[in-house]
Amino acid sequence: MHFAAFISIGIIISNSVVADSCSKPPVVHTALGSIKGSVLESRLGRQFFAFRGIRYAQPPTRDLRFQAPKPVTAWEDLLDATEDGPMCPQPAYNRSEVSEDCLRLNVYTKQIPGELIRIRPQSVLVYIHPGGFYAFSGQSRNNAGPQYLMDQDIVLVTINYRLGSLGFMSTGTADCPGNAGLKDQVMALRWIRDHISSFGGNPDSVTLMGYSAGALSSTLHLISPMSRGLFHRAIVMSAAATSQVDIPTDQIELARKQAALLGCEVTPTEKMVACLRQKPATEFADSLEYMFVISWNPVLLWKPVVEPNLGQERFLDRDPTEAFLKGDFTKVPIIAGITKDEFAGPAVAFLKNETLRNELDQNFDTLAPVLFLYERHTEESRNRSKLLREKFLGDESLSLSNSLTGLNYLFADSLIGFAMHRFIQLASRHTTVYQYKFSYVGRYSFLYYPDDKTPYGAVHHDDLLYLLVIPSRAPIFNVTDPENSTVERLTGMWSTFAKTGNPNKADKISMPDWIPVSSTEDHYLNIGQELVMERGLFTERFAFWDQLFPIPSVKND
Ligand SMILES: *[C@@H]1O[C@H](CO)[C@@H](O)[C@H](O)[C@H]1NC(C)=O
Ligand SMILES: *[C@@H]1O[C@H](CO)[C@@H](O)[C@H](O)[C@H]1NC(C)=O
Ligand SMILES: *[C@@H]1O[C@H](CO)[C@@H](O)[C@H](O)[C@H]1NC(C)=O
Ligand SMILES: *[C@@H]1O[C@H](CO)[C@@H](O)[C@H](O)[C@H]1NC(C)=O
Ligand SMILES: *[C@@H]1O[C@H](CO)[C@@H](O)[C@H](O)[C@H]1NC(C)=O
Repeated sequence: MHFAAFISIGIIISNSVVADSCSKPPVVHTALGSIKGSVLESRLGRQFFAFRGIRYAQPPTRDLRFQAPKPVTAWEDLLDATEDGPMCPQPAYNRSEVSEDCLRLNVYTKQIPGELIRIRPQSVLVYIHPGGFYAFSGQSRNNAGPQYLMDQDIVLVTINYRLGSLGFMSTGTADCPGNAGLKDQVMALRWIRDHISSFGGNPDSVTLMGYSAGALSSTLHLISPMSRGLFHRAIVMSAAATSQVDIPTDQIELARKQAALLGCEVTPTEKMVACLRQKPATEFADSLEYMFVISWNPVLLWKPVVEPNLGQERFLDRDPTEAFLKGDFTKVPIIAGITKDEFAGPAVAFLKNETLRNELDQNFDTLAPVLFLYERHTEESRNRSKLLREKFLGDESLSLSNSLTGLNYLFADSLIGFAMHRFIQLASRHTTVYQYKFSYVGRYSFLYYPDDKTPYGAVHHDDLLYLLVIPSRAPIFNVTDPENSTVERLTGMWSTFAKTGNPNKADKISMPDWIPVSSTEDHYLNIGQELVMERGLFTERFAFWDQLFPIPSVKND
């Protein structure tokens, strides 16, 4: 066994527990009660402990629906955490896998402290899952298998948070002020602060690792007054809160759309919210599809909101872009980046389908702001649509052969790339930001095109395949698979960063010096077949977006 930290103590005392094949089911004792876990095996065959489906908040049901979560209370019996808990309600293929009682987290660790001996606590990596704020989970069996990261000496925590209308509905009133799913994430971070040492984790070394909606969340934790002090580093993968998207104070119109779909009267607001509290959670999940404007767009349906002060504890109290511009955020070291091709998926979907393609072609000026997330209905909006079409699609009518690359760029930049560009530009003035571009293309992908067998490129979520096991998308890569070195590099650099705040000098990985972004040079690590330092990430494209959506001037307050 290779438990470096453990061996450095020099002795193995039965009272402290290390995972091995002869272990009985592991038990940890927390201030709330005792928890029974199980033993799993990592990619390279190391045993580790898994404690899954642990409630970190009370079930957010009835009066707690649409409200900030409440902490869990202590329990007497041994809590069984040997299996994943449910996902939060979402359109799922298997009903028995979802429940509104979904505020759960999973902890993976290689060693847990005993009563007599102390171990060296390990740094903690917290995974905040993607899914547009309406899909996926932190479950090990479906979305976030720990077998790769548990070859590193860290403690991994994956979390669920409320999704869709149940997690993000905002009416501008105290009964539904918004950001509930983000407050769940804060509650999970508080739980980690209070209890992770029982699992061998170090509460003073916590790194957020968010992907897509989870990355957007991570950038909000950097400015949220509720998240302050709960983490020490951030890995921000493929989304940020600093885009052209306006962050409203409520989304009452979308709330009314949901209410109408579930047969609730839409006024007065208090009555509407009370009615929505009575509806089964499954009805929200089942109606999700009808909440969109066109074919699952806008991808970002429910947004975080700048909460009006209604007496509640506010997760977000100011505009994100403005906060980063002013340097008004928690200045921790950051890894941030995007994939080379990001959102080709929706581009293919739109261009392949004749109805959708014609609709977009004929109504581009009004549909573009829906798909690419900017304000609708104004003259400026129509002007922007025209400029975007001209730049990315030319003046021909849309076709799969001629428009795919341009439409891919439009989705990629508007949903992911431009926000990341602005985030890195603003944050790097105040803290260390290691930027990457993920361009490695393996045998598996989230988009196979054109022949349904070949990966299109390095699209959104493809880099996750080398950090977490996602069984529906790829098998577990072993050491002889060609993907081996990408797994090694990503898990090695990410966990080294989680331990030290610097991804350089990761064990066993040969890499160039990963230089942070500076005020004069847009340095980034290109993570492809090899690791190479380059400069100027999609400079020309982002300059165009910068011109179209200039950084707002700072209001003095
Ligand atoms: C649905 O999920 C449950 C609980 O995980 C599992 O026991 C059952 O086999 C699943 N059903 C199908 C059809 O996958
Ligand atoms: C094309 O898109 C429309 C609108 O979303 C949908 O109703 C239709 O089923 C799609 N057609 C195909 C062939 O997928
Ligand atoms: C929109 O474009 C037209 C024509 O170029 C220009 O005259 C007008 O001022 C623009 N309006 C806005 C609000 O940008
Ligand atoms: C690794 O996985 C591949 C399939 O991806 C399999 O063919 C091969 O035998 C495996 N190698 C080892 C050493 O298990
Ligand atoms: C795969 O990764 C392991 C673990 O770091 C490494 O020791 C090994 O050299 C790699 N194997 C191959 C065939 O590249």
